[in-house]
Amino acid sequence: MIRLHDPGARHRADAAAREAAALAVLRGGRYVGGDVVDAFLAELATATGWPAAAGAASGTDALSLALMAAGLRPGDEVLVPAVSFFATAGAALRLGLRPVPVDVGPALPLLDPEAAAGALGPAVRALVQVPLFGLPLAPLPAGLIPEDVVLIDDQAQAVGSPSLGAAHRPARFAALSFYPTKVLGAAGDGGAVLCRNAEDAAALRRLGHHGASAAGFEAVAGWTGVNSRLDALQAAVLGVELRSLPARLARRRAHAARLREGLGERLRFVLPTGPITHNCSVLVALHPDPAAMVAAAAARGVELGRYYPRPLSAEPALQGRARLPPCPRAARFCAEALALPCREDLHDHELDEVIDVLRALTAALGPHPAAGAAA
Ligand SMILES: Cc1ncc(COP(=O)(O)O)c(C=O)c1O
Repeated sequence: MIRLHDPGARHRADAAAREAAALAVLRGGRYVGGDVVDAFLAELATATGWPAAAGAASGTDALSLALMAAGLRPGDEVLVPAVSFFATAGAALRLGLRPVPVDVGPALPLLDPEAAAGALGPAVRALVQVPLFGLPLAPLPAGLIPEDVVLIDDQAQAVGSPSLGAAHRPARFAALSFYPTKVLGAAGDGGAVLCRNAEDAAALRRLGHHGASAAGFEAVAGWTGVNSRLDALQAAVLGVELRSLPARLARRRAHAARLREGLGERLRFVLPTGPITHNCSVLVALHPDPAAMVAAAAARGVELGRYYPRPLSAEPALQGRARLPPCPRAARFCAEALALPCREDLHDHELDEVIDVLRALTAALGPHPAAGAAA
């Protein structure tokens, strides 16, 4: 089976370095916090171009901690794109916040700024943008979102994608996930919050360490601290992974270009027009019957995925606990979305196999009616 994700293959590709780094931590005896974690977080901040980073136990926790540090209170509303992994909304729900999924743009499954502006209301305190699949976000038009709405990026899938640069009103925090299938994946769970200054990073570290201070265990930004830190073993593995990230992402981009070339007349690829510059953490294409494609491809030895089968606004956990404006574009996208294997460790013959299988399946099941058109 040609799998969508294969964390074990990642390990085998760099086993000696990863095992040496992990063994050094095991022998050193400092398993939570310490130099290895600090060094990784400093390297991460440098690599991503942010001034500071704080560790977290997962990407979901990183997002919750960012919402807490931003001073949100239970009952506050958080705008999120209607197409994302559940955790984008779940991280807010668990704090007693109300997510408000808003529709995505016409070309890509990214939050539509006009839809976000249309969903503003007196309780909206934050807007979470998600560079889903690592796709580059467009800058928010100046003045569209009031200054007192905190901007937070859920960059769980976007490590290594180009940042927006100075044209954009910068997000105050960016939450990252190191779940093993991410492009910067740990050997377990992990996450981090990128911060604009050392004070925010210190507040996040305290929130993730029970609110500990010289005075004792205090509330931070009105919240009781929790236990959510990045383990030293994970930081050791991530330090190795960070060094190989640029080369690995270059391979992913090349794979995505090759798959688009081989299948662009059959599927509609969810890629920006022009050269591919983002991390290709998930490569998605549209087909009118993704469920049939997933089943038929599995029978031919190719794993496809549904990223994501329904918009956040249709998730059962949000019913009665969220404000739910209509999101017709998100619903259309989810009805057609299909993730293709694009791992950096795939060989040319495996990519050819994916292309052959999907060409055969789209001959039988039909192509996407808008295949070949730019996104
Ligand atoms: C967009 C998005 N947000 C949040 C998360 C949550 O990250 P984690 O699984 O590390 O909690 C993920 C990934 O799982 C994700 O893809």
